[in-house]
Amino acid sequence: MSPRDFGKVAVLMGGRSAEREISLMSGKNVLEGLRRAGVDAHPFDPAEQSLFALKEQGFERAFIALHGRYGEDGTVQGALELMDIPYTGSGVMASALCMDKLRTKYVWVACGLPTPRWMVLEPTADWHGVAARLGLPLIVKPAREGSTLGLTKVTRVEELPEAYATAARYDCLVLAEEFVEGQELTAGFVGDQALPLIRIEAPGGNYDYQNKYFSDETRYYCPCGLPPEEEQAIQALTMRAVQVLGCRGWGRADLIRRADGTVTLLEMNTAPGMTSHSLVPMAAKAAGMSFETLVLKILELARVG
Ligand SMILES: Nc1ncnc2c1ncn2[C@@H]1O[C@H](COP(=O)(O)OP(=O)(O)O)[C@@H](O)[C@H]1O
Ligand SMILES: [Mg+2]
Repeated sequence: MSPRDFGKVAVLMGGRSAEREISLMSGKNVLEGLRRAGVDAHPFDPAEQSLFALKEQGFERAFIALHGRYGEDGTVQGALELMDIPYTGSGVMASALCMDKLRTKYVWVACGLPTPRWMVLEPTADWHGVAARLGLPLIVKPAREGSTLGLTKVTRVEELPEAYATAARYDCLVLAEEFVEGQELTAGFVGDQALPLIRIEAPGGNYDYQNKYFSDETRYYCPCGLPPEEEQAIQALTMRAVQVLGCRGWGRADLIRRADGTVTLLEMNTAPGMTSHSLVPMAAKAAGMSFETLVLKILELARVG
């Protein structure tokens, strides 16, 4: 397909989620990449105008560079379905499913895929019971948020109520997870191609919001340094995780590899970051794919239905 065949393309960016700022950076990067590749691409912020203006403005395709709620969660996908505008990435069901880390786990567990043990936390939880069951340290996080917002690593039982309150500021559904010690890996995919794994080393092992987007100290290793057979096995696990969730187009799974070589799945991102620090572009580059080729490929895979 030639870049002009895509017609007028909207790059959806911004929006009204907690990750708005990141989305604006992703969107700008995608917009510039598409334009360099010769696509007739334009920015479109659904926080500034109704999505339903897309049709009136003659847009024929949408590149979704929105993160978090009202963008990555199936709502925008549903609106685009109704307008019959092909859009990038996963459809309504998989987008909504992956936004919810609890339901994502239900599917993975049902399909025999590994994910950390967890409990749903209530404000009246027996904190000692939670700590006894999952062990310490443990992780507390909102089920439907991203970018490590609202996430706490808890090392003492006394910290649990506050960690719960912090997570509950983002979502009424809060999870506690066993803390998995190991190497952080992330596994991107485009279409049915698994991208090379990236190993992430944050200062002090603390891969938080600040480190994720603004730190120059976080180290990324791609190639990740694992033997090729092991990397391929983790890529295969990722593609299985993608398949059972019903994801398509592109995305990125976050994993942890323990010292004994076992791997566990943390979450699936259906519209991951596309900023200059972002991981999918980095992995694509390691696979010999330029940013322009990457965004064109993702756009080519845009669908409705
Ligand atoms: N169970 C866990 N054990 C160890 N570290 C975790 C665990 N859950 C999350 N983390 C850390 O927090 C980061 C963010 O968690 P994640 O589940 O990927 O949510 P999100 O990226 O949507 O905020 C991970 O990249 C990892 O560094
Ligand atoms: Mg993550």
